[in-house]
Amino acid sequence: MHDFLKRLPKAELHLHIEGSLEPELMFALAERNGVSLPYASVEEVRSAYDFTDLQSFLDLYFQGMSVLRTAEDFHDLAMDYFRRASDEGVVHVEMHVDPQAHLARGVELPVVMEGLSLARRRAQRELGMSTALIMAFLRDRPAEEAIAVMESAAPYWEMLDAVGLDSAERGNPPAKFVEVFERARQLGIARVAHAGEEGPPAYIREALDLLDVSRIDHGVRCLEDPDLVARLRDEGVVLTVCPLSNVRLRVVERMTDHPLPQLLDAGLRLTLNSDDPAYFGGGMLANFTACHEAFGWSKEIFIQLAETAIDAAFISEARRLELHRQLAACH
Ligand code: HPA
Ligand code: ZN
Repeated sequence: MHDFLKRLPKAELHLHIEGSLEPELMFALAERNGVSLPYASVEEVRSAYDFTDLQSFLDLYFQGMSVLRTAEDFHDLAMDYFRRASDEGVVHVEMHVDPQAHLARGVELPVVMEGLSLARRRAQRELGMSTALIMAFLRDRPAEEAIAVMESAAPYWEMLDAVGLDSAERGNPPAKFVEVFERARQLGIARVAHAGEEGPPAYIREALDLLDVSRIDHGVRCLEDPDLVARLRDEGVVLTVCPLSNVRLRVVERMTDHPLPQLLDAGLRLTLNSDDPAYFGGGMLANFTACHEAFGWSKEIFIQLAETAIDAAFISEARRLELHRQLAACH
């Protein structure tokens, strides 16, 4: 099964590029940039990753990214991840990026975009990997700031495959961001949002009704609202589920408690993703493997999940066809 899961052409739709920063690279970049870290060793960093909830993770996630200063850093960060992912059989990566987290540290948008663009071109050329970029807004910061970032990103609108919504969910409903998502819609930019990770099912409804999103990131708490589940099924809304993330952030206690089997039984369209692989104990292959171990899923189920990811990806129809062919050839 491991060989099959590795070979399976996997499209990853939910990844925070800053959350792919492994402690080894964190130390290397800290040294390169003269940034001091509150850790003495890589082992100490890893042992600090003992989270109690989303916020306890976000604190270390924002601290970790303090080593990212130059375009070269963002390039190295992304290339490091793309290589690892490619080795695990990932053929397409859609990455969220958090511009506000970098602007707050004096790292301007062109620095971030230039580094990531360079890495994306290299991934295409050297790994045959396609990528997409999702510019995310930090929902625990003011809506006005998101609007300002959206406008200042005008030179990069063409490069954006979608805008997203992440960071601390509770108390920061999608309704807060109606204006900036409407702006994205006017510009013809697709929309996704984290909802129903720690927040209530009502936030999933809001994301659909008020932000007109085409996918829901996480969404696992939809099960608390049967009418919502029926709607998600009827409308074919895709949920980008991140099983290891949900365990590490204690959305669920153990993998065997994860609601993925119920979500699947409910007829929902699901994909498996790594979210923040450096912080949550592994990338795409680890997430697929954990599901196999916890639920004993057959190859057919993994093929179905991989197929949904290809169908829901922000890619050209030519690339979609190519990935469907790769998938058909792998089994
Ligand atoms: N949830 C919300 N915000 C995030 C996450 C997440 O899992 N990872 C990075 N930012
Ligand atoms: Zn996420």
